[in-house]
Amino acid sequence: MSAEKKIFLTGGSGRMGSSLIPLLKVADWTVAAPSSSSVNILEPSTLDRFLEAFKPSVVLHLAAYTDVASAEQQKALCWQVNVEGTRNVARAANAIGARMVHISSDYVFDGEHGDYLESDTPNPSNYYSLTKVVAEEASRAAKDVLIVRTSFKESTWRYPMAFMDQFTSADYVDVIAQEFCLLLEHLELVQIDILNLVTMRKSVFELAVQRNPTLLPGSRLDAKVHIPPDVSLNISQWQELKRSFKLA
Ligand SMILES: NC(=O)c1ccc[n+]([C@@H]2O[C@H](COP(=O)([O-])OP(=O)(O)OC[C@H]3O[C@@H](n4cnc5c(N)ncnc54)[C@H](OP(=O)(O)O)[C@@H]3O)[C@@H](O)[C@H]2O)c1
Repeated sequence: MSAEKKIFLTGGSGRMGSSLIPLLKVADWTVAAPSSSSVNILEPSTLDRFLEAFKPSVVLHLAAYTDVASAEQQKALCWQVNVEGTRNVARAANAIGARMVHISSDYVFDGEHGDYLESDTPNPSNYYSLTKVVAEEASRAAKDVLIVRTSFKESTWRYPMAFMDQFTSADYVDVIAQEFCLLLEHLELVQIDILNLVTMRKSVFELAVQRNPTLLPGSRLDAKVHIPPDVSLNISQWQELKRSFKLA
């Protein structure tokens, strides 16, 4: 990447940010990831001031209200952080001419058929997902934005069981963080505005057993709540991009 490798992250203290920042530093990025107490995405002046001084080439927007269950009770806050916060970040990125990378989710889809393409129409099934769909549109306030839909799990599987009949393209956070780092390293070659960034489709059991070999297989049909059968995202575009990175 020839542009200056200077990146500003929102949500740097979160699950993805904590895995990604060390990788970015190893890859020689100058990283700024202030906590929400010093740069709050709901206070545009703190955001603008920080970006004016730091002048990153890339603004990676990870910050979000991510508690899916609590979002049903805290709709106003979830909307503010995910939608208004994203719009503030997009405007702040514009003000300094930075490229924005906005993080979205496989949850924009209902998970009824899987293998979702970037061009498929979202169909959110809860309030958090709804705000993530609207946040994608809010991020388009940035003149130069790449929306990245992803999905990741904690780096260890803490549960005694995982479903064999639920499919996903999510991966462990440390694995997806490596994919993010690769993307950021080659961002100049990415001339699209939306990308699925996950790994191959697999059952949740197949994913879980990689890190917890004593795990028991279960069925989503035995769960007390509706578990969507297939939330996988199609990764053809990402695989094609990775081939192009190797040739560059
Ligand atoms: N986890 C998943 O499985 C998953 C799946 C798909 C997509 N995603 C998306 O990936 C992104 C990162 O998720 P994550 O799981 O790493 O998040 P997380 O662990 O829940 O962390 C959320 C981050 O957002 C920050 N934040 C919240 N409100 C803020 C505000 N008003 N101003 C500034 N920062 C604020 C928090 O900072 P403080 O701690 O300082 O408040 C924290 O760093 C999110 O956009 C999420 O929607 C996550």
